[in-house]
Amino acid sequence: MPTTGSNGLWGNRAAIRVHDKVFEPYLTAAMIAGKVRGIAEQINHDYAGKKPLFIAILNGSFIFAADLFKEITIDAEICFIKLASYKGIRSTGHVVTAIGLDEDLFDRHVIIIEDIIDTGKTLHEFLPQLVHQQPATLRIAALLHKPEAMVYPVTVDYTGFSVPNKFLLGYGLDYDGLGRNIPGIYKLTEKDAAVE
Ligand code: IMP
Ligand code: MG
Repeated sequence: MPTTGSNGLWGNRAAIRVHDKVFEPYLTAAMIAGKVRGIAEQINHDYAGKKPLFIAILNGSFIFAADLFKEITIDAEICFIKLASYKGIRSTGHVVTAIGLDEDLFDRHVIIIEDIIDTGKTLHEFLPQLVHQQPATLRIAALLHKPEAMVYPVTVDYTGFSVPNKFLLGYGLDYDGLGRNIPGIYKLTEKDAAVE
């Protein structure tokens, strides 16, 4: 079985092993590219003349953000932030802090770029910080969305794929640090999901 680090094996659509788990092919690089182009076309249409500011959330969204931004043909800016969650500061649980958000969002048309919306917790906690800066508009573009996993309400304005509540890997998504460089998206096998 191919493992991460094996040269040239990402393209052959075989199951792969990363750390202790086996993943099977789910979305090909070509399927993803088609969706990314579709999202970009919508944004090019919706934001013509508005010079939107994209905010890509690291680490997971870096590949999606780069591919999407290359397909944007209107005037647009992009910046990158990292979100850090801290436990135990407040009784309510996590507090999400943005690292690197230097931009002034006032009156800007802001589009958040996320790799995947899972429970929605990260964005649910982070979005109020952006709203506080009074952007003209604020929308979310996510390549993947797991509707069954959603616990915190987040409206996703541009979605690539609605996916089942399974752990995914590749195209920026990692399992314990590995797998972000796989061009397609893989799904944890049922066998390995059962022992989670
Ligand atoms: P949320 O706060 O539960 O919506 O989680 C969002 C973050 O969790 C994403 O931006 C990813 O970094 C990570 N994540 C959620 N689901 C997966 C997955 O299936 N594979 C890899 N990372 C995931
Ligand atoms: Mg992420």
